[in-house]
Amino acid sequence: MEITSAEFVISNTDVRKCPAGNLPEYAFIGRSNVGKSSLINMLTGRKGLAMTSATPGKTMLINHFLVNKNWYIVDLPGYGYAKRGFKGQEQIRNIIESYILQRPQMTCLFVLIDSRLEPQPIDLQFIEWLGENGIPFSIVFTKADKLKSGRLGANVEAYLRKLKEQWEELPPYFVTSSENRLGRKELLDYIESINKE
Ligand code: GTP
Ligand code: MG
Repeated sequence: MEITSAEFVISNTDVRKCPAGNLPEYAFIGRSNVGKSSLINMLTGRKGLAMTSATPGKTMLINHFLVNKNWYIVDLPGYGYAKRGFKGQEQIRNIIESYILQRPQMTCLFVLIDSRLEPQPIDLQFIEWLGENGIPFSIVFTKADKLKSGRLGANVEAYLRKLKEQWEELPPYFVTSSENRLGRKELLDYIESINKE
């Protein structure tokens, strides 16, 4: 799929104020700093579209971007950033959970996983929660450019093995880098294939 246009529409803390209408939405979630906003910029080919930062906790709101005038990309705040404090983390958790549970337009949630790390309990718990709530999701391994290919493959395999303990059938998964655009075509083609359904 070609991206012909991508524009920021609105930022919200309240899911009820998200854009009206029935356009499908693809949302990006994961731990703070995993690379959600960078991936959105890479996919759309618009460098400054979503705000990124080397410091975790940059994205605090639900951000809607209209793509090709007929679907949305949604950038969500990251979870698990301890420095936000308990109350701050609770607030973010409420924003994330209300969006995920109360947004029927959300067609697929992309769960980003840092490809450099071994499976983290916080991500596995989050994925389990998605399963309990029947949320459609895919896995996106990020920052693949930071690893040699052997190590990358081994980490991805280890992750899939871990998921197989939880799931009979594995969700779709993608290996990406926002630095060298790895996985861009695969992800966009996947979104296009769902959009056509
Ligand atoms: P929050 O909004 O704080 O939850 O973070 P985020 O998940 O949106 O992460 P963001 O896109 O802001 O990126 C965090 C940091 O990781 C930035 O310094 C990015 O430059 C870096 N980064 C993101 N993706 C990649 C990647 O694919 N490769 C490399 N090398 N660095 C990346
Ligand atoms: Mg962000």
